[in-house]
Amino acid sequence: MTCRFPLTFTIQKRIRKMKELTAKQNEFVEELISRMTLEEKIGQLNQASVSIVGGFDVSFPELIEMNADGRISNEEFQRILSNADRDYHEEEIRKGMVGSMMVSDPEDCNRLQKVAVEESRLGIPLIFGLDVIHGFRSVYPIAIAEAGAFDTDLFARTAAMAARESRTQGVAWHFAPMLDIARDARWGRVSEGPGEDRYLASAFAAAKVHGLQDDHSSTENYVAACMKHYMGYGACESGRDYNTTSIAPHLVYNHYLAPFAAGAKAGAKTVMASFNDLNGVPCTANSWTLRKILKGDLGFEGFVVSDANAIREVIVHGYAEDEKDAGIKSVNAGLDMDMGTEIYLHNLAAAVEEGTVKMEVIDDAVRRILSVKVWLGLFDHPYTEEAAMHRYDVLPAEHLALAEEAAVKSAVLLKNGTDGTPVLPLSKDAKVSLLGTLADDRENIIGAWAMNWREEDCVTIRAGMEEIFPSLQYFKGFGPVTAADELDAARKDIDDAVAYGDVIVAALGEPGEMSGEASSRASIIMPGSQRQLLGELMEKARAAGKKVVLLAMNGRPLDLSWETEHVDAILEGWQLGIRMGSAVAKLLGGDAAPEGRLASTFPACVGQCPIYYSHPNTGRPGSRSKFTSRYLDAPYEPLYPFGYGLTYTQFEYSDASVTEKADSFDVSVKVMNTGSRSAVETVQLYMQDVSASLVRPVRELKGFAKTSPAPGSCETVTISLAKKDMGFYDNEGTYLLEDGKFRFYIGANSRDAALAAEINVKF
Ligand code: BGC
Repeated sequence: MTCRFPLTFTIQKRIRKMKELTAKQNEFVEELISRMTLEEKIGQLNQASVSIVGGFDVSFPELIEMNADGRISNEEFQRILSNADRDYHEEEIRKGMVGSMMVSDPEDCNRLQKVAVEESRLGIPLIFGLDVIHGFRSVYPIAIAEAGAFDTDLFARTAAMAARESRTQGVAWHFAPMLDIARDARWGRVSEGPGEDRYLASAFAAAKVHGLQDDHSSTENYVAACMKHYMGYGACESGRDYNTTSIAPHLVYNHYLAPFAAGAKAGAKTVMASFNDLNGVPCTANSWTLRKILKGDLGFEGFVVSDANAIREVIVHGYAEDEKDAGIKSVNAGLDMDMGTEIYLHNLAAAVEEGTVKMEVIDDAVRRILSVKVWLGLFDHPYTEEAAMHRYDVLPAEHLALAEEAAVKSAVLLKNGTDGTPVLPLSKDAKVSLLGTLADDRENIIGAWAMNWREEDCVTIRAGMEEIFPSLQYFKGFGPVTAADELDAARKDIDDAVAYGDVIVAALGEPGEMSGEASSRASIIMPGSQRQLLGELMEKARAAGKKVVLLAMNGRPLDLSWETEHVDAILEGWQLGIRMGSAVAKLLGGDAAPEGRLASTFPACVGQCPIYYSHPNTGRPGSRSKFTSRYLDAPYEPLYPFGYGLTYTQFEYSDASVTEKADSFDVSVKVMNTGSRSAVETVQLYMQDVSASLVRPVRELKGFAKTSPAPGSCETVTISLAKKDMGFYDNEGTYLLEDGKFRFYIGANSRDAALAAEINVKF
């Protein structure tokens, strides 16, 4: 038997009223709309960018382009920006032509807000938005690292802290969480999101939305979330940013949509449409993803903003003839707010007059935007109080502690010694040589997409380790960018590091700007001459009988196959934020045991990309024999699977069992700590629908739980899987629960989880 359910979760009303608003607030919105002119309505749909003016031979957009294509460096660009006069569009705000801006200085926010509230005809406040991707002032681990903590409570707490910090600076809207399922390590934006898996990404989405939005004890404690980039952006062909995407509808429904659906269910107030075209239609003007799925099936009542300047790009995609056409197609498709192009501002009034855009479409968009402003309390509290502005002049201890906790929980131990002899944790009395430019630098612990961090809050790797290892010596050595004329000095440092240390900790990897937007790579090994110099270090260390620990710092899964074969231990440190140094030092010194897992498969070589654990089986699954799905010149298995991570003790799994209940299956397993210290284990439940009307993945994560049995003892972990969650969507978006054979796997990661039972299920 097959049970069928539509994707439609909520019944649509003709006029959408935001659920959380009181009847009086909804009335207020309606009354306000009834008093607005068409121009004022369109003004609300316009997010103006602060532009720079005067004294330049080139326009601001061209300057951005020059920075993007490398004609001017980031430093040069920043210098021009900080010296330039800015146009904050006060006149347009006064005329009611601006609904939102991207500004983060509280005094600028207040000044502009005053123009909107006190000098425009209707006094509608602006909503200020910003990219707060992994923390505001307190920068936390990049999302792909934090997701690996498998800790929804942590996800929510870091989000809540970021909300409070940003709101004191006038920012009431975060362009986060980023929820793109990403399976291609070449894509630089894998750093910004929760990884490859729909279940983990959905848990991350819901927790982030709750953390950002739910504390209404004061308007200073919450912001509106913006789920992005909707949708399928992470599936860009060949891992090249902004590239085209082709995703079968069932994969959209089952995988790419899942975190957005979870975030929408958690109440996310806004969504950002993505840059890519999906199956031939740019997501900026895609009525299937926006009107049908998001606003229709999911019943999303918030508003949708474009990505930066994306409405103009609808023309470049080849989907609209000119700006007016692009504006009409976008707004009709359900794109409510224009980020940065002013195309709505200049074209929608004429489109309404000639009937190509209906007034109801404009009203619906305005209603959504005003409802979010009301929900944020902006009409009653439009300004940032002086006291709030300075609340975090000195970052409180609890903020620093949370940043450190998140960093500790997100690092992943990939390798610890060979032949069963662990190298980590290091003895605190050991003579440690710390090597590498990344170890003594603040910017590269931060990661792409953090703008409001301050140097004084940061602990570098070097500073953190010097605290814990009194005999540590630092050697600059080499890093991602080591010029030819620095090589001699680097080699001398290698010699000195080997001569001094009992153990050499080499902090190597990628600089922060090598991941994030517009940062795709065709090679995913450690950049520059790092692998070669690490090879030289290894030879010398081997000759001297010294151990080498790699502290990897990167914004994407790297191909660490060579390193795995040669170095003694690997701690995947990602970019863990302002307290990375103290966190890493605690882990290396054993004050904390690693507990992070990989939220993304680590390929064995770039040619495997895209690679992910929940793939279909194919008719000829990879094996040693020739006519199977494999490579002639590389393994088909990844280097490290999704969910993988070691710690300083060992856990043994036994007695897995599955019990059927009326509406669920309880999957239990005994976890024994066979080592000599305590640590946290993340037990993972996977399922396979063995035969179905559409081929299903070989394994799908369906739940996880943490356990921490004391050394020598055992705990039973039970993860419950609701029967209603065992189905899948077909290509029409119908959810199917099909009777048949299912396999349940439970264990430490997507590869090693062992078969607990195979059961014939009837729904
Ligand atoms: C990025 C978005 C970001 C926006 C605003 C775009 O280039 O794709 O993720 O939110 O800029 O800064």
